[in-house]
Amino acid sequence: MADTVALKESFSVALNSVTNMEELEKIRVEYLGKKGFITELMQEMKSLTPEEKKTFGQAVNVLKNEVNDAITAKREELKQKEIELENSRMPLFDLSMPPVLDRGSYHPITLVQRQCEEVFRSMGFAIEDYSEIVTDYECFEALNIPKNHPARDMQDTYYLDNGQLLKSHTSAAQNAIYKKYKDALINEGKPIKAIFPGRCFRNEATDACHENTFFQMEGVMVDKNISISNLIFFMKTMLSEVFQKDIKVRLRPGFFPFVEPGFELDISCLICGGEGCPSCKHSGWLELCPCGMIHPEVLKAGGIDPEEYTGFAFGLGLTRLAMMKYGVKDIRDLNSGSLKVLSQFTDDK
Ligand code: PHE
Repeated sequence: MADTVALKESFSVALNSVTNMEELEKIRVEYLGKKGFITELMQEMKSLTPEEKKTFGQAVNVLKNEVNDAITAKREELKQKEIELENSRMPLFDLSMPPVLDRGSYHPITLVQRQCEEVFRSMGFAIEDYSEIVTDYECFEALNIPKNHPARDMQDTYYLDNGQLLKSHTSAAQNAIYKKYKDALINEGKPIKAIFPGRCFRNEATDACHENTFFQMEGVMVDKNISISNLIFFMKTMLSEVFQKDIKVRLRPGFFPFVEPGFELDISCLICGGEGCPSCKHSGWLELCPCGMIHPEVLKAGGIDPEEYTGFAFGLGLTRLAMMKYGVKDIRDLNSGSLKVLSQFTDDK
């Protein structure tokens, strides 16, 4: 009996000092694990008389249940604290908040775009602007998507009477960027490093996740010996700056005719931290940024010799990034022009 009382006391002291899940798990194993204190007490019972067994057995069982309950309660308490901490870090947008009408504010996409630009500028990237109306050549053919290629189906857009179109992705500026910077690359050995944010259009039925008008930010880097590791480094640095915490990324294979190999870059879910929740469809990951190594045909179309130079390209979904950063659940709120929604974003940038 004395054993159970002493054990209960030592357990209470240990539990009180627990501050995170790992410590809690350690204590659980120490007391309830296969070689834990309580399991060991049960083993001792073998050597007792039937009478002793009864009282001792009861005491051990009571202790075991108490320890179990206390651990479960502590686990809930720690989980709750983690959620509160996470929420306090993420300024969740709240549609029911009254509008702040006495001052204007930047659109959340502008805020996120500026943050990304700042980080890339500090890493030596030029920031380029490009028109919203482009030619079929720029949007598709120069990107290794010939007429009638099935990849065009995914990017149906709006056409003007003169055959030009509203760009369906920021990749439409790639060809012009290569042509603009190729001489400095070839003659002076200056790597091409540029980002070009822009509004994109697609002929889409709209819902909470799809809009016919959205923003992307394309980035390219071309030099001798550029590899996928360079791509991962730049993306991780940028995302960690934007979200102000270390962001885990993973690459999955993805197909785009203008990159080879092509990838989908996912980041660990910002809401649940990777455990799985409705926002990440319980996978723990969020799809954020298609990317890959620039296809040799695309470099060639830009006047760059793919035998000598390689590069990476990515197409970051700025709209999506803004939704993640501010916890906006319906993409349509961002294009609504509603002050009730938009005046809540007041980062001073
Ligand atoms: N332009 C592609 C899209 O919008 C994304 C992409 C950009 C993929 C760059 C690879 C490299 O779907």
